[in-house]
Amino acid sequence: MDGTLEQVRRLLKAARRIAVLTGAGVSAESGIPTFRDAMTGLWAQFRPEDLATPEAFAANPRVVWEWYAWRRELVAKAKPNAGHAALAELERRSPHFALITQNVDGLHARAGSRNVIELHGNIMDDRCFAEGCVLTPGDEIPGTPPRCARCGAPVRPGVVWFGEMLPATALAAACAEAQRSEVFLSIGTSTVVEPAASLPFAALDAGAVVIEVNPARTPLSARATFVLAGAAAEVLPRLLDHETIR
Ligand code: OAD
Repeated sequence: MDGTLEQVRRLLKAARRIAVLTGAGVSAESGIPTFRDAMTGLWAQFRPEDLATPEAFAANPRVVWEWYAWRRELVAKAKPNAGHAALAELERRSPHFALITQNVDGLHARAGSRNVIELHGNIMDDRCFAEGCVLTPGDEIPGTPPRCARCGAPVRPGVVWFGEMLPATALAAACAEAQRSEVFLSIGTSTVVEPAASLPFAALDAGAVVIEVNPARTPLSARATFVLAGAAAEVLPRLLDHETIR
């Protein structure tokens, strides 16, 4: 892997535009469960259709709210890991850098990343279930779930659920960054959930060098320019090691 790492380091140093897509794997070493890892993934223990859809919330608002409260607690206790820190440092060293994430845990921003595009929202945001607007605690009537003080609808977490559209502005920005990137890093994602899963392929089709960082193979692996097989917290800092990088 050392030869490949050196090649990737040089590509990152020379690149004028870098885009990154991250998934749950980048937060695994912060103690936050992924979704599809066989034994430890959330979807191995819970059914997404029971917890991560508007229909599930309408049918069982308390159950869904309490599940997200449990996940919020995990996220609040978690700390950014060396992989998050390495991406924040890479951004500081790059002329143009966009970090597109499917994660809702906010750890990239807490690690210092600045240009973060949250495709699936943020688990710490509260939104009115009827109007969709972001709420502050002052806008809410306490309860499980709380209620919107304006319209009385239940309060939901500000994440994208299955069957829902992604935030249009975030998705448009992510597509533009993928298509204009010179180097595209796809890190810690199973590359199966659309439309995020198409971003690395859009980058490839636009002529970018695509680098995958993942301990396991994914649908992207066969087409990626480079595959760095390993954990993000171990591999990403090694992309910054040498003084050859700006
Ligand atoms: P998944 O759980 O589907 O995939 C996690 C990926 O991370 C797998 O490919 C693992 O091999 C890899 N992985 C595990 N540990 C890692 C580590 N230490 N370093 C690097 N990679 C590691 O999670 P996502 O691909 O993020 O959707 O899932 C995409 C979406 O599906 C999520 O955003 C969520 C989920 O349902 C919504 O919430 C809408």
